[in-house]
Formats: sequence, C-alpha cells, structure tokens
Amino acid sequence: MEPNEFLNDSDIITHLADEYSSHNDAVVPPVYMNSLHVIPKEAMDDGKPRPFVYGRNSNPTVSIFERKIAALERAGRALAFASGMGAISAAILANVKSGDHVVAVETSYGPAKFFLENQLGKFGVETSFVTGDDVSQFEKAIRKNTTLIYLESPSTMVFKLQDIRKVAALAKERGIVTAIDNSWATPVYQKPITMGVDLSIHTVSKYIGGHSDIIAGVVAGNAPLMDKVHQVREFYGGILGPMEAWLAIRGLRTLKVRLKAHAETAMYIASNLEAHPAVSRVHYPGLKSHPQHELAKSQMEGFTSPLSFELNCMSNPAQTRLFVRRLKWFGMGPSWGGFESLVSVPGKDSTMVRIHTGLEDKETLWNDLKSSLDLVVQG
Ligand SMILES: Cc1ncc(COP(=O)(O)O)c(C=O)c1O
Repeated sequence: MEPNEFLNDSDIITHLADEYSSHNDAVVPPVYMNSLHVIPKEAMDDGKPRPFVYGRNSNPTVSIFERKIAALERAGRALAFASGMGAISAAILANVKSGDHVVAVETSYGPAKFFLENQLGKFGVETSFVTGDDVSQFEKAIRKNTTLIYLESPSTMVFKLQDIRKVAALAKERGIVTAIDNSWATPVYQKPITMGVDLSIHTVSKYIGGHSDIIAGVVAGNAPLMDKVHQVREFYGGILGPMEAWLAIRGLRTLKVRLKAHAETAMYIASNLEAHPAVSRVHYPGLKSHPQHELAKSQMEGFTSPLSFELNCMSNPAQTRLFVRRLKWFGMGPSWGGFESLVSVPGKDSTMVRIHTGLEDKETLWNDLKSSLDLVVQG
C-alpha cells in the first residue's frame, strides 16, 4: 500500500510502513538488532546515500515506528529518541544558540523546565516563563532574540491549555519556531502540526508505549527543521534502541482502542469526583467546569486520563496522605499512560492529588477512590 492510501489513524497504526515483503512476509516486522548495515560496493561509484548504514543514525525497526508517528502527526518526518527528555532536549537544542531567548509555559513538565533554566542557562540561553493562559502573554514575553516558543498543552499536573492556533500564528508572524509537548493528548487526539506548530514531541514511555515497559520519546515535524533535530540526535547519540522501537510499535497498535477505555473511565471518575463533598476542585479538560473546556474541544478530538483534584482539607494535609495510603488499586508513582492506575502527590504538604485511571474496571476504581474519600469527609 502507498502512504497516500492511509487516510485515517486506525489504518496508519495498523499497517503503514509494515511492508511485509521487506521482511519475509512477516506480519510483525522484526527487531533489527544490529549496529551496522554493510554498504554495497557500488556505492563507491554511484554516490547514492543508503537509508541504513550505522545504528546511531538510523535503524529499520526504529524507522517503522517513526513513519507511523509522522503520519499520525500529519508531519513529514519523525525521529525517535531514547527517552521523552531526549526528544524534548533535542527539539530545544536544535533551535537555540548562545545569546538566544526562549519563551516557555511555566506549567511544562518539571525536568523540561529544569533543562531550559539550568542546562541552557549555562550556555547563555535565557528562558522566560509565562502562564500561557492568553496569547498576549507570549506577545509581551517575546524579545528580538527569541528563537523558540515551548508549549505543553494540556499540561500534566494542573491540565492547563494554550491556544495552539493563536500562539503558532503569532510565532510564524515573528519568525519564531514553536514546539509542543503533546504527550497527554497523544497524536490521536491532538495534531498540533495541522494547527501551525513546528515540532510536536511525545514521551513514548506513557500512552504510546502504553504497557509501562519502555522509556522512549519522539519528535515530529517538517524539513528543514527536522534535519536540525536529526543532527542533534546524531551528535548527542540519543537514538531509540531497536528493541524499544519494536515494543513502541507493538504498544502503538492498540493506542486508539486503549485511549477510548482510558477516556471513558477518566470522564466517569472526574464527574464523580466533582460531586463528592471531600473534593473542592477537579482539573480535567473534559469537564464542562474546566475553564478552558471550549478551547479544549476546539483543538482536541478527545480527552485522555491523567487528571488532578484538590481535597477539601486545606488545614490538614495529613488527610491527603491518609487518602493516598488507603487506596488499594492505585499504586503510587510519578508516571501515567500505562495499563495500570496510579496516584501521585506533588509534595508532602500538598492537598492536590494526581491520578491516572488505567484499564481496570471503572466501578472498581471509583469504589476505591470513594471509600478513601469518605474517610477524608469523616476526618
Ligand atoms: C508530560 C511529559 N513530558 C515528558 C516526559 C519525559 O518523558 P521520559 O520519562 O520518557 O523522558 C514526561 C515524563 O513523565 C512527561 O510526563
């Protein structure tokens, strides 16, 4: 099948780039567990570049994964990395040099913020952080030397959004590159490149992998920007390993069906949490009460599962710890996107709790949360 026959996400996920005939008609393409492909001797005469030569530059298994993600993102190219942070740092490094300035949203993933402030700071790149609630904030923060606007929408602790179309249009007008962490929505529910963003980034360790068994990342975009990202990957040496790429492809096959189940449970849990007396606020873009719900609907096709909420126990954060301790079905861990439900608390004195609703039965999960919340009400 030709790439232009793949018009929708389910077909892309299921068949694009699998190319049975290149792999002895195997329906599952193999793990190319090799560092080197020998070059045909004719290459000395014809000078034609070969797609696969050395494993730090490219690998056939990794390439299948990349082609699927590029198609899902409606981008010309995708490049896979050994972690989400590898993808984020490469996308940023490809667009800054000493003396440049970055505008980033303050609710970005913590280590991405740390990278911008502390790592890039060492090399003379300055970052201004904005809440990102309104496009005017970006407009005010832009300087003559701004080369990059870094977004994360929705963010993954308080689930705030940026108006992707407006920020991308502003950046285009000023000749500034835009990059977005698109991990929460996944390329199935949000396609930033079609809204004018230059680079869309994912931690594959979350939903795309989906089984809590790999650490991986990916950047999607168009030439010539992606050539710069490729250079960073080549010289910093951050390519994804072939075994992880194979697992990422396997995880990706069920992304769309898994998301449906995660989304249904998350919406059910978010609505129930909102109605519970022990909860003062729920942060979930799928709820009508979310201040940016209309914006969310205008730029996403669906809502996934991590969400956070605040407990009604401001005077006694110990209640939050009691609540978490009593949960039976939510393991405590700072991750999400896998099959298993998880809970995390940002700090010892926090009354905010983040949960990821996994693929367990939604009543099982709600009953677990409810019995623990009832304790908070009882004090
Ligand atoms: C929103 C977001 N972006 C990026 C990352 C980094 O991904 P990785 O852990 O694969 O480096 C994470 C990890 O938790 C994340 O939650």
